[in-house]
Amino acid sequence: MGMLYENTGINEKGHLTFAGVDTTELAKEYGTPLYVMDENMIRDNCRKAKNAIDSYYDGKGMCCYASKAFSSVGMCKIVSEEMLGIDVVSSGELYTALKGGFDPSRIVMHGNFKTKADIAYALESKVGRFVCDSVEELSIINDMAKGCGYTPRVLMRITPGVDAHTHDFIKTGCTDSKFGFTLEDGTALKAAGEVIRLENVKFAGVHCHIGSQIFDIEPFLEAARLMMKLLRDIKTMYGRELEELDIGGGFGIRYLESDDPLSYAVHLKAIALTIKELCVDYGLRQPFLMIEPGRSIVGAACTTLYTAGTVKHIEGVKSYAAVDGGMADNPRFALYGAPYTVLNASRMNDNADFTGTIAGRCCESGDIIQENVTIPYPKYGDIIAVLSTGAYNYSMASNYNRLARAATVMIKDGQARLFIKRESLEDITKNDLL
Ligand code: LLP
Repeated sequence: MGMLYENTGINEKGHLTFAGVDTTELAKEYGTPLYVMDENMIRDNCRKAKNAIDSYYDGKGMCCYASKAFSSVGMCKIVSEEMLGIDVVSSGELYTALKGGFDPSRIVMHGNFKTKADIAYALESKVGRFVCDSVEELSIINDMAKGCGYTPRVLMRITPGVDAHTHDFIKTGCTDSKFGFTLEDGTALKAAGEVIRLENVKFAGVHCHIGSQIFDIEPFLEAARLMMKLLRDIKTMYGRELEELDIGGGFGIRYLESDDPLSYAVHLKAIALTIKELCVDYGLRQPFLMIEPGRSIVGAACTTLYTAGTVKHIEGVKSYAAVDGGMADNPRFALYGAPYTVLNASRMNDNADFTGTIAGRCCESGDIIQENVTIPYPKYGDIIAVLSTGAYNYSMASNYNRLARAATVMIKDGQARLFIKRESLEDITKNDLL
């Protein structure tokens, strides 16, 4: 039936429940499209990630939530209460994290192009760390940090040349990448010599992020080995032992029943062992370890609800069932052909007698949520649910066709509360001038 997680069920009316609440009731109360999120699951994921570092790496590390996956003031508050760090890549994400109550020392400023305004804002806010992609950028931060009242930590982002076996558009660790310093050709090691000389920043360590939605553990271990070698080489060449190693995010989640992701515990156990053994081999102290999961914290903790429109049947070709959202609230099929589990939340116990494409309402043939879906026939007005939409949906949403951004509801212990308001028509035009 496509129930991916324990927080999804069917009630006595044959309706889909999520986090213990009837989804059709939520659709009635809050309207559609609607993102419905499960706070208990988000907090549980935060704790599992943090506990994995505590258990297998002696607590000498920090889990930083990659807020690009889903950022809102309320989300930042939850993550901050769970004592995670946070990764931000723009003034907007930084502002949101600060508004959510984040201690700036636990904020990591990322991005392959931080504008001077971003850097100034981050320094003024006294963010703990910057992860940097070039010597030019590091020199700019170094100049701007002069007299700013503290010494920010900086990490070099490294592209370790690891193939993460995921979609080409979300691979980031290969040598041919816009991100970071190339490891393979010696660029990274050479640049480290220049970073050491910067006076207004503290060169704390190295970072890599090999990609997203990864199910294999081997690419993570390979990245960890290459990064440990780099720490050894930097020590040998410059006599400087760096303190921090950030191995990024990318842990896969379940979108389909056939997906079989590994837990944080399994990942961290293996990664920690690899690092600890190499510390002994290379005579290095155990670096402070950071991870940056985004999708695996929030991805599974959301279901999107739509209202079904009309069905178009093309004899001998296929059927299209339209829903009242689409690429404006979830562009991931259009961008990556991403798989999703789709359910007819209104008639979960009926026969699955419809097979076809779930199409959005935007004026684009590519506005598709999923193809080849088999569900009980979506009658006009039925509620259609798409599972595992917590990551890179709301955060990548647009106002295409002047559609208002959908609302988000957060469920905690069976109680729903409005978490992000639906945009109004006034919101759509609020910046327009005559
Ligand atoms: N750290 C860095 C430096 C990153 O660039 C990313 C994601 C993460 C951490 C978090 O990765 P995660 O744990 O979420 O896989 N829009 C695409 C995903 C792009 C990922 C970008 N970077 C998608 O919808 O699949």
